[in-house]
Amino acid sequence: MTAAPIIRAAAGDAPIACAIVLGTGLGPLADAVEDARVIPYGDLPGFPQVGVSGHAGRLVVGRLEGRRVAVLQGRAHTYESGDSRVMKPVIDTLAALGIPRLLLTNAAGSLKPDMPPGSIMAIEDHIALFGPNPLIGLKGDDRFVPMNGAYDPALRRAIAGGAARRRVALFEGVYAWVTGPSFETPAEIRALRTLGADAVGMSTVPEVILARHAGLAVAGLSMITNLAAGLAPHAPSHAETKAVATAGAAAMEAVIRGFLTECIDE
Ligand code: HPA
Repeated sequence: MTAAPIIRAAAGDAPIACAIVLGTGLGPLADAVEDARVIPYGDLPGFPQVGVSGHAGRLVVGRLEGRRVAVLQGRAHTYESGDSRVMKPVIDTLAALGIPRLLLTNAAGSLKPDMPPGSIMAIEDHIALFGPNPLIGLKGDDRFVPMNGAYDPALRRAIAGGAARRRVALFEGVYAWVTGPSFETPAEIRALRTLGADAVGMSTVPEVILARHAGLAVAGLSMITNLAAGLAPHAPSHAETKAVATAGAAAMEAVIRGFLTECIDE
């Protein structure tokens, strides 16, 4: 059996308006879901083992702000195996369930001193020049996915409106994807800044490309956890990433709630 019928059997057939992937330190947001049905990734064929501290591996289907959502608590990263297609079964399952929107969240380093740790950045575009494209190996002309407007303009307006309504300051910027798991060198960060990036991180972009291929509308939110290498007096660390993301989870939850109310009719 594939994952979609298992999810329908566990959580019902009612349409799901939005899927939300929770990044490092943001997993506890899944606890806010009401009428929750919880399905471990291990029960869902093709779903990844999640092996990074700060990530659980559970799908939570229920309601947030009265909207039916599927919250993915934990993701697999390219750096765990070298395979950027690792989230393909997850994204394909969301498409099979007919979920029209996907909100991806992550923890990221800032390339701008005036976007300090604790900031929330809506992703307006990305740079993905340094890792393998997750569509490599697919057949058919639909693999040549245009990436113009990959971060859906209407969903970006809903994020901005939702953040304003909840009085959370919101940055917008370009997210550069690196595979990790080592952090960047200060020279790499200077290079990424020259290329036009505002934030840097090790996730999200493969999911965006897979989701655009599958026809979902995509939005992205970065929790800024640190100034990137060379911009702070200390080096970045996973411990800092987890701690700052956890501290910022309430603001992120407010933006996500505002987003849901702005873009989905009850
Ligand atoms: N670099 C890459 N990924 C990250 C960072 C960073 O500085 N912070 C959180 N995720």
